[in-house]
Amino acid sequence: MDMRHARAAPTRTDTIEQRLLHRIGHATQVVALVGLLAFGAYIVLRAVGATPKNFDQWRALMEGQAMPTAADWIANLGIGLHFAMGTVLVLAWPILLSSRIRSRHRAVHRWTGRVYVTAGVLAGAGGMSFILTHGAYTPAASVAFAVWGAVMMLSAIMAFVHARAKRFDRHRAWAIRLFAMVLGSWVFDLEIRAWKDLTGGIGMGAGATSGPFDYAILYLFFVPNLLVAEGFIRNLHKRIAWPRLFTWPAITAFAVAGGVFAYAVVMVTATASGKYGKHLLQAFGGE
Ligand code: HEM
Repeated sequence: MDMRHARAAPTRTDTIEQRLLHRIGHATQVVALVGLLAFGAYIVLRAVGATPKNFDQWRALMEGQAMPTAADWIANLGIGLHFAMGTVLVLAWPILLSSRIRSRHRAVHRWTGRVYVTAGVLAGAGGMSFILTHGAYTPAASVAFAVWGAVMMLSAIMAFVHARAKRFDRHRAWAIRLFAMVLGSWVFDLEIRAWKDLTGGIGMGAGATSGPFDYAILYLFFVPNLLVAEGFIRNLHKRIAWPRLFTWPAITAFAVAGGVFAYAVVMVTATASGKYGKHLLQAFGGE
């Protein structure tokens, strides 16, 4: 983790409120790290056929079915590239965010950065080619994913361009935007599960139909991330001076959000009904 931008470790002079905030923040980081590792493992294991069911999007290629049109080939190969590059994006970020590696092993940061930017562009291009030749699960999803993909590819390219030009403030800003977009691919599944369980699925369409929530989630998985990223880029989190009256409500809200996040990670990843869990548990022989 980047200690320049994270909160410093608690000291004896910290108030109980500061200690609590630090603990909640730290716990959230640990859950995110473990959860993303499991998400990466899920993509790899499912895509190599180590779980009971491979991804539907490239079934024709995987099962050697006839692919009569060029569009079939582009969609299948494009989404295959997408899975491979998506795995890099989900797993390689701790190397890039480590301030220790950045300062002491600059070549490692630079080379991982080049690989990461390439993966960002190729994952986006693969996803886009699938959207254009096949389409995502609904037309509305195709539009939203294309917008998300465009922001992600732009962020990757700009992070690279500014690093090359040694404009490190701007490099940092675009790198933060890029991570926020990558997180979206995971947050999408977490938000759907949390909403379903905690609200009983209000606004979700039955079967293949879309309800208001299904339309809203198409933007809720990446637009809020982008706004939070903008706050980080401007270091707003360091400047907020809460009136004392708001301290405990803010801590409570932070703790509740962290709790919902941890709940969703566990349900999606480590239960038999979870989108990743149903694959991971079987792959590791637990079910
Ligand atoms: C940033 C990291 C990303 C990762 C790790 C990732 C991973 C994945 C995975 C695992 C799937 C299969 C999902 C499933 O069937 O359950 C998928 C599907 C897909 N992804 Fe991504 N993705 C990422 C970013 C993007 C972006 C930026 C775009 C936009 C171009 C995109 C477009 C798509 C599309 C169109 C599908 C097929 C959806 C469908 O069948 O309806 N992905 N991705």
